[in-house]
Amino acid sequence: MNKDSLLITGIGNSRNVSRYCFGKGSITQLSEILNSRRSSSENWAVFLIDEYFDRHSEPLGVLPVESTDRVIHIRTDVEPSTQFIDSLVCDISVSHKMLPVAVIGIGGGITLDVAKATSNLLTNGGRAEEYQGWDLVKRPGIYKIGIPTISGTGAEATRTCVITNEKTGVKLGMNSDHTVFDQLILDPDLTASVPRNQYFFTGMDAWIHCVEALSGSYRNPVGDAFSAQTITLCRKVFSDNEMMSEESREKLMVASYLGGCAIATTYVGVVHPFSAGLSVVLGLHHCVANCITMMAMELYYPDEHREFMGFVENQDVPIPEGVCSQLSDSQFEALYQATIIHEKPLTNALGEQYRDVLDRSRVRQIFEKM
Ligand SMILES: [Fe+2]
Repeated sequence: MNKDSLLITGIGNSRNVSRYCFGKGSITQLSEILNSRRSSSENWAVFLIDEYFDRHSEPLGVLPVESTDRVIHIRTDVEPSTQFIDSLVCDISVSHKMLPVAVIGIGGGITLDVAKATSNLLTNGGRAEEYQGWDLVKRPGIYKIGIPTISGTGAEATRTCVITNEKTGVKLGMNSDHTVFDQLILDPDLTASVPRNQYFFTGMDAWIHCVEALSGSYRNPVGDAFSAQTITLCRKVFSDNEMMSEESREKLMVASYLGGCAIATTYVGVVHPFSAGLSVVLGLHHCVANCITMMAMELYYPDEHREFMGFVENQDVPIPEGVCSQLSDSQFEALYQATIIHEKPLTNALGEQYRDVLDRSRVRQIFEKM
């Protein structure tokens, strides 16, 4: 990045997560936190839990679920849609006369985002699609508690929740101060049973957010500090022989949170738009799509590409190859459209004339490497 093109800015009036606890076994604090919200008249809570724990409940231990509470398992094989959020909110609303005292999201980025959107919609009314955009959520949602069970996306820290309107194809979050969690429980014990490859792909999301942010031109000193520390922590984790040791899992959980704080103040770069293309057109999950993209980013991020290849080799994690080898011209066109639409991050990385740099043939060449 040419220093002359740096746009050093401040930050408007940023909101962070109100409270968080961190540490091994901290999930046991959920009981006390929830009891402080329950009263004799308002006493029920909604648990939205990643479907993975339907079959593997051991890591969560015994959750403080009361007989009046609702426990709903959230599927994570597809990214959440506005239609799904609407039906979930309707289901929750009709089950009790009163609103719940808390919405607790337990899982990865998808489940945390579903919890944020559900909480907002329960108090604001209407349909999820009405809140896709910036600062459209007018009232605080139901008290939101986030408990991540995998580290990297930063969903626990951000003021958005990514949802797709299946009818219009618009993939956009409810960007709002009201979307930020009121309470987090960051318990590194919960990530011990994550499959190794998924742990790597998701952890890399935090690192990629921050290398993109630090390579961009829209910068501020707070975002830079969050990014630098996230990269330092990720580097320790993925250069270590034991990326899933207790110590590494603690570091990665902190990195994910700080990385989320970083992107809440700045923008990503070239990797996320290409990754979004892979997700929208080929249905690949965000974090693996990032890693596939990173393999083809030598031109834009030469040093970071080298470091990434070192992590891959060190951790011996297979990154899918050839995902674009059999595509038709119309699929390449769809990939181009789904990539180039990400104006803010691409401007951050390449300048306002990014469409000249990333023309159709260049975009296709990059996808053909994947
Ligand atoms: Fe990401």
